[in-house]
Amino acid sequence: MKNSIGLDKKKVKVLTDKLNDLLANYQLYYQNLRGFHWNLKSNDFFTLHIKFEELYNAAQLSIDEIAERIVTLEAVPLHTYTDYVKQSSIKEHKNVTTSNETVSKTVSNLTTLIEKERDTLKSADEAGDESTVDMMTEFIRFQEKTIWMLNSFNHK
Ligand SMILES: [Fe+2]
Repeated sequence: MKNSIGLDKKKVKVLTDKLNDLLANYQLYYQNLRGFHWNLKSNDFFTLHIKFEELYNAAQLSIDEIAERIVTLEAVPLHTYTDYVKQSSIKEHKNVTTSNETVSKTVSNLTTLIEKERDTLKSADEAGDESTVDMMTEFIRFQEKTIWMLNSFNHK
C-alpha cells in the first residue's frame, strides 16, 4: 500500500516513528540551550550567550521542518511536552551554569541527535524518501561542524 506521495505505508511508519523520536530529542536539546543562554555565569558569557541563541534559533527551524515532514508523510508529530520528555533520550539539564559544562553538554546532546539522524536517514533511504534523506544530511553536516567548533572552544 502506497501513501499519497507514492511511498510504502509500512516503511513510512517506521520512518515517522524515528522522526517523532528525533523531534522529541530536538525539543529537549532546544530547551536545554535556552537554559544555558539564560543561566550561564562565565568570563565567556557574551560569546556563549550569543552562540547558544544562534543554536536554539537554528534548532527551532529544524524542529518545525521535522514536524512538518511528519505531517507530509501522513503521521501526527508529537506536540506535547509530556510526550517529548517521555520519549527523549536527551535529558533536561537543570541549573547548569559553567562555560565548560554548558558546552560539553551541548556537544553530547548534538552527538545524540547525529546518531539518531543517521539512523533516521537509513529508514528514509529504505522507504525511498530522498527528501528526508536530504534533510538528515543537512542537519548532520551542520551539527558535525558545530561539534568541531564547540570542542575547539572548550579546548584546555
Ligand atoms: Fe535572549
